[in-house]
Order: sequence, then structure tokens, then C-alpha cells
Amino acid sequence: MSTTPQPKVVLVTGASSGIGAAVAEHLAAAGHHVVAGARRTDRIEALVQRIRAAGGSIEGLALDVTDRAEVEAFVAAAVATHGRVDVIVNNAGVMPLSRLDRLLVDEWDRMIDVNVRGLLHGIAAALPVFQRQGSGHFVTVASIGAHQVSETAAVYCGTKYAAWAITEGLRLELDPSIRVTTVTPGVVESELASTISDPGAQDLMAAYRAASIPPGAIAEAIGFAIGQPPEVDVNELVIRPARQR
Ligand SMILES: NC(=O)c1ccc[n+]([C@@H]2O[C@H](COP(=O)([O-])OP(=O)(O)OC[C@H]3O[C@@H](n4cnc5c(N)ncnc54)[C@H](OP(=O)(O)O)[C@@H]3O)[C@@H](O)[C@H]2O)c1
Repeated sequence: MSTTPQPKVVLVTGASSGIGAAVAEHLAAAGHHVVAGARRTDRIEALVQRIRAAGGSIEGLALDVTDRAEVEAFVAAAVATHGRVDVIVNNAGVMPLSRLDRLLVDEWDRMIDVNVRGLLHGIAAALPVFQRQGSGHFVTVASIGAHQVSETAAVYCGTKYAAWAITEGLRLELDPSIRVTTVTPGVVESELASTISDPGAQDLMAAYRAASIPPGAIAEAIGFAIGQPPEVDVNELVIRPARQR
């Protein structure tokens, strides 16, 4: 395991699979202290075992980002254990795609609750800690869907445009002692498409997602952003498969 000169306390939401799990593994392998949260606690427990077996530092917690009190408790637990929080990676997200005329309103609500409210809950919980410390780093995992809209993805893209805008607004408002990064992945191998219930959207996605890159590519990008010196703020990183247009 490589070591880093300045280990950071890094919180990762949605760490039970895909990008979040890869971020946790990558940052722990680099010597950082990871606090990982998601709802599937069996997956979080397996991640904790894997990382500890490799010599890394991690705590795993049950976390539903739609519950503001749970997100506050997640951040408070990290402060209680480590005395500080250096980075929060607001990564949790869902993508149950469908055409608007299918009227899957419950799924629209779920995307808004996880992808937008969950991000806001992470910001609300970590911001006072960062301000008290005089340092901190917000990382939002948005999507290429924050920059372009496609059929069946109106609501998902709407949530990702919102995530992009909220994160950019945060950057503009904050003192420069707190850094803000938006990470914008293209198609990445993960379980994200498994939340699609609509058969038409499933077929479209199967073709769209044929060329993908491993989640470690996004983890590397996040590692790069948080490894910069305090005066350098990597504002946005777009990482797509080379074949993606
Ligand atoms: N894969 C891609 O192609 C791609 C592209 C662009 C952007 N992204 C974004 O990347 C992020 C991670 O997605 P992924 O691709 O890694 O998909 P994934 O494998 O499905 O992971 C999604 C993660 O979000 C968590 N999550 C969902 N609802 C949650 C909730 N209410 N509270 C806490 N955690 C919750 C899931 O954990 P639990 O179910 O255990 O709670 C899981 O750990 C998402 O924001 C997604 O929009 C992905």
C-alpha cells in the first residue's frame, strides 16, 4: 500500500457499489481515512473487510442520504472518530430512466430525493464543520447528464443539472479555504442502470452503456483533485470512455 504525506478524512456517500466503492478503495489504498455510507450495510461491511484486509483505514455506516438527520449523524460520527472532516464525496445517486409520458412519478421523486436532496443534505451537514475548521473540500459526483439531455433521461438529467448548479453556486459563495469539485463521469461500469424499471429505457441504455470505463477511473480523478495543494481547486473533471460521443 502506498502512503500519502497528508492523510485526509474522506466521507463517501453511496459507497456500497460502483463509483463510491471504488473511491473508498482507491483513497484508502492511498493512505486516507475513509468513512463510507450507504443503505446496503452488507455491502458496506464487505467493503470495510476488504479495505482493512489490505491495510487501509475505514469505518462503514448505514446511511440514507434522503434523511437529513442520518446525513448529519454520518458527518458527526466522522468528527467524533477523527476530530475533523477534510473531504465529503457526495456520490449517492439513482437513475430509473423512463419517458415522461410513462408518468413514473414515484421514480421522478426518488431521483430528486437522492440526487438533489441527498446532495443538499451532505452540503448542509459538512458546511458548518468545514467553516469551523477553516478548511474542507466538497466533491459532487454529477454526470455528463449535467451537460446534455437525452430521451428517457429528462428527470435524471434535471437532477444532475441541479447538482452541477448547486455545486457551482457553492463554489462561488464559499471562502477559498474550502474547495469545491464537480466530477462528471460518462459511462462507467456500475449497478446504476439496474434501477431502470421501464423496458424501453432499459433497451436504450443497454446500447448506450455498451462502451464503459471502470469506476477506478473516476476514483483516480477524485484522488487527483483532493491531492492538490490548498490553493489549487480543481473545479470540474469530465471523464468519459474514449469511445463516448
Ligand atoms: N455509472 C455511470 O455511468 C455514471 C455516470 C455518470 C454519473 N454517475 C453517478 O455516479 C454516482 C454513483 O453511481 P454508480 O454509477 O456507482 O451506481 P451504483 O453502483 O448503482 O451506485 C449508486 C450508489 O448510491 C447509493 N444510494 C442510492 N440511494 C441511496 C440513498 N438513498 N442513500 C444512500 N446511498 C444511496 C447506492 O447504495 P445503496 O443502494 O446501498 O444505498 C450505491 O452505493 C451516482 O450519483 C450516479 O448518478 C454514474
